[in-house]
Amino acid sequence: MAGKIIPVPPFDCIVFGGAGDLAERKLIPALYHRQCTGQLSEPSRIIGVSRSPMSDVDYCNFAIRAIKTYVKKEDVDAAQLKQFLTRLSYLSVDATSDVGWDELKKKIEDSPAKIRAFYLALSPALFGDIATRLGGNGLVTLDTRIIVEKPIGNNLETAQTLNSHLGEVFSENQIFRIDHYLGKETVQNLMALRFANVLYEPLWNSDHIDNVQITVAESVGLEGRAGYYDHAGALRDMVQNHMLQLLCLVAMEPPSMLDANEVRDEKLKVLRSLAPIDVSNVRECTMRGQYLAGTLADRSVKSYLEDLGKKSSNTETFVALKIDIANWRWAGTPFYLRTGKRMAARVSEVTVTFKPVPHSIFDKDAGEVVANRLVIRLQPDEGVSQWLMIKDPGPGGTRLRHISLDMSFASAFSGRNPDAYERLLMDVMRGNQTLFMRRDEVDVAWQWIDPILDGWKETGQPVDGYKAGTWGPSRSIAMIERDGRTWNDTV
Ligand code: BG6
Repeated sequence: MAGKIIPVPPFDCIVFGGAGDLAERKLIPALYHRQCTGQLSEPSRIIGVSRSPMSDVDYCNFAIRAIKTYVKKEDVDAAQLKQFLTRLSYLSVDATSDVGWDELKKKIEDSPAKIRAFYLALSPALFGDIATRLGGNGLVTLDTRIIVEKPIGNNLETAQTLNSHLGEVFSENQIFRIDHYLGKETVQNLMALRFANVLYEPLWNSDHIDNVQITVAESVGLEGRAGYYDHAGALRDMVQNHMLQLLCLVAMEPPSMLDANEVRDEKLKVLRSLAPIDVSNVRECTMRGQYLAGTLADRSVKSYLEDLGKKSSNTETFVALKIDIANWRWAGTPFYLRTGKRMAARVSEVTVTFKPVPHSIFDKDAGEVVANRLVIRLQPDEGVSQWLMIKDPGPGGTRLRHISLDMSFASAFSGRNPDAYERLLMDVMRGNQTLFMRRDEVDVAWQWIDPILDGWKETGQPVDGYKAGTWGPSRSIAMIERDGRTWNDTV
């Protein structure tokens, strides 16, 4: 079935950091795609803002380059591009002084009734200043939204300071905290799979599920973000946000309806139920790694330290965790999470392994009865596989086989799979916060993460080296094998 396009009301999207990396790679291409589908109503505008001076024409050239680089050739349509460029303009505004604010005010006040979305695609260090100046210059109407990218703080305290700063100018329903994983199609599909089918929900608990694994493996390294990453590490960069959000969608109770606060209330309950990991158990429940030089896709790649240009660093580029959820549904079913850079392949998936059958009626000769497994693959090749036991066809006695029923979204649905930012940007304009993080979710996630970071410091937990192009340090394998389990084979 083809997607149904519901146009969003006219908006002014003002992108701070408008000529930066995120705007180039994600925001401009996403808005261009939405233009092509006819989702942008007239007279929607996109106003790029940053400190350096740039003419409107130069900004259009920047957008053309972004689209030609990050949009597939077959999706670049000359007429649509021409129309898209008429929406663009640029202003030089300084987040830390009065320079440019009058011009910005003049520009957007000509249409006060339009939706205003201020996208902060720049360093979080500037979020507070920008919010204050937006408020001080009277630019915040009832129909104004602010969109912020992670990192939202570096720990609970800094996250609270940042959120309080935003909260002085914007009400919570005007603040859209992006976690781009929530905009991925398959992540949303987790909710459809669980709550639009009767099949899984009765089994979705520790009576029937042995363990859940969430793997987000990346083949990329630092991608020019050394300064940020070496202060963050994998736990802050991937687990505090994307992976805990995935865990919440797998573990939460059914919300009574698909409403932003209903869904976020349920996710919050999961975060509050995470059993603490602190100095007392951090060594058993977590494992840290850092990539060494190695080979990836037949190419030699450098070590983390070489990429960083430093002699030493204690930052983890890989982390594995064993998490218990202390509630009735999940007590006794561990959730294993692992994420890392420069791993053997780019693959993100959630694997739910069910318990074995209580008793086998088959002879030993029939082969092992392997436990059922549901694999939800987020990327690449989005899809769902249900692993089942069947009888090998033909004579010669019963022989059992473990096979998967595969649904690849690419073959089941025709058409382009929209990027997460497309969905999320349109949700901002519609005012739908379901796929955005509420302040209390961010706080509680940090409340759980901080003791792990403290535990690492107090115990001096080392980072184990792993060769680039592998599945992480051997101790991460030992960590799960201690429990008599193995990581799901991801390739
Ligand atoms: C970002 C992290 O949030 O997500 C990056 O900061 C990471 O380090 C990226 O590479 C992964 O996103 P995706 O969509 O490529 O899986």
